[in-house]
Amino acid sequence: MSSEQKVLFIESKQGRFVVSSTPKPTSPPPGELIVKVQAAALNPADWKIQVFGVFYEKYPAIVGYDVAGDVEEVGEGVVGFRKGDRVFFQGHFVNEYAGFQQYTRARAEFVAHIPKQLSYSQAASFPLGLATAAIGLYANQPSGIGLNPLFDSSVNYSGQAALVIGGGTSVGQYAIQLLRYAKFGPIITYASGHHSEYLKSLGATECIDRKQVSLSQLPEVVKKLTSAAPIKVIYDVTSYDIDSQLISYGILADDGRMVLAGESKLKDKIDGDGSKKTVVRVFGSPYIPENQEFGKAMYKSLNKLIEDGDLVAKA
Ligand SMILES: NC(=O)c1ccc[n+]([C@@H]2O[C@H](COP(=O)([O-])OP(=O)(O)OC[C@H]3O[C@@H](n4cnc5c(N)ncnc54)[C@H](OP(=O)(O)O)[C@@H]3O)[C@@H](O)[C@H]2O)c1
Repeated sequence: MSSEQKVLFIESKQGRFVVSSTPKPTSPPPGELIVKVQAAALNPADWKIQVFGVFYEKYPAIVGYDVAGDVEEVGEGVVGFRKGDRVFFQGHFVNEYAGFQQYTRARAEFVAHIPKQLSYSQAASFPLGLATAAIGLYANQPSGIGLNPLFDSSVNYSGQAALVIGGGTSVGQYAIQLLRYAKFGPIITYASGHHSEYLKSLGATECIDRKQVSLSQLPEVVKKLTSAAPIKVIYDVTSYDIDSQLISYGILADDGRMVLAGESKLKDKIDGDGSKKTVVRVFGSPYIPENQEFGKAMYKSLNKLIEDGDLVAKA
C-alpha cells in the first residue's frame, strides 16, 4: 500500500486550496486512532480560516472538522474501538487531526461509533455544529451556561422558555434539539419561514419568520408569545454586531443565561448594568483544555442519543 495519501491543503496564509499529497499517518500514539476518512462535511469554519487566515501558524494547512470514516489503526490503551469500526469525530486545527485528507489521527476520547441508521455523510454532519451547541448550552462556565454537563436524561427545565436566534443554521438545529432534551418549553426560534416545519419536528414550539419580522421587532413578538414565561435561555447563533447582540440581551430575563456563537461585543455595554444575566461566547471544540472533560462526556453519550432519536442529523 502506498505510504502517500491525497490531501486538500490551504497552501499559504489566506492562499488557495490545492490538492496535493503527503505521507499517510501510521502507528498512532497511545490513546489515538488512525481513521480512513469516508466523509468530511463542509463547514463555515473552512472558508473563514482560508479567508481570514486564523487558527493556523504553519502552512500548508489542512482544514475539515466534521469527519466520518473507518478505524484503520488503534493506538495503545484505546478501549472500545477496533479496526474497521465506523466512527465519527471532530477534526482539530492541527494538520494531523483535520478531515480533508484520506487518513487522519483522532483522539479516541473524542470519537463515537456511527449508529447503524446513519450513513458516513449523515454522521459527518454532527461534530462541529453539535459541539458548538452542546458546549454552549450544557457545559459548565466558562465554556457554557451549564444546563446539563453530563447529558443527564432526567434534567428537566419544563416551564422555562428558551429562544434560538438563527434556528435554521446547523448550530441552531442542534441547540433546539438539546433544549428539547432538557425539556425546555416553550422553545421559540427565529429563522426563515421555510425551515419552520422542520424546526418544529426537532422540538421548536414556535417559529418566528425572520423574513417577516425584523430583529428589532423580535423583542415585541417574543413578549407576546411568552408574557407569562420570560426567556431564561437564549442561544444566539447569528448576531455578530453590537446592535443585534444588545437586542438578544434585552430579550433575556434578568436572571437568564445567553450563549453567543459569534464574538461577544457586549462586555463594555453590560458590565455593571446591575443585572444577573450571564453571557458566554462558545468555542465549539472539545480539544481546547477547558472543554475536554465535557467533550469526553459528550462523545460517550452521542451514539445512544442518536440511536434513541434525541438527536437527528442536520437536514
Ligand atoms: N463560536 C464557535 O465556535 C462557532 C462554531 C461553529 C459555528 N460558528 C458560527 O455560527 C454560525 C452558524 O454556523 P453553522 O455551521 O451552523 O451555519 P450553517 O449551517 O452554514 O447556516 C446556514 C444558515 O444560516 C441561516 N442564516 C444566515 N444568516 C442568518 C441570520 N442573520 N439570521 C438567522 N439565520 C441566518 C441561513 O438560513 P436561511 O437563509 O434559510 O434563513 C442558512 O440556512 C456561523 O457564523 C459560524 O461561523 C461559531
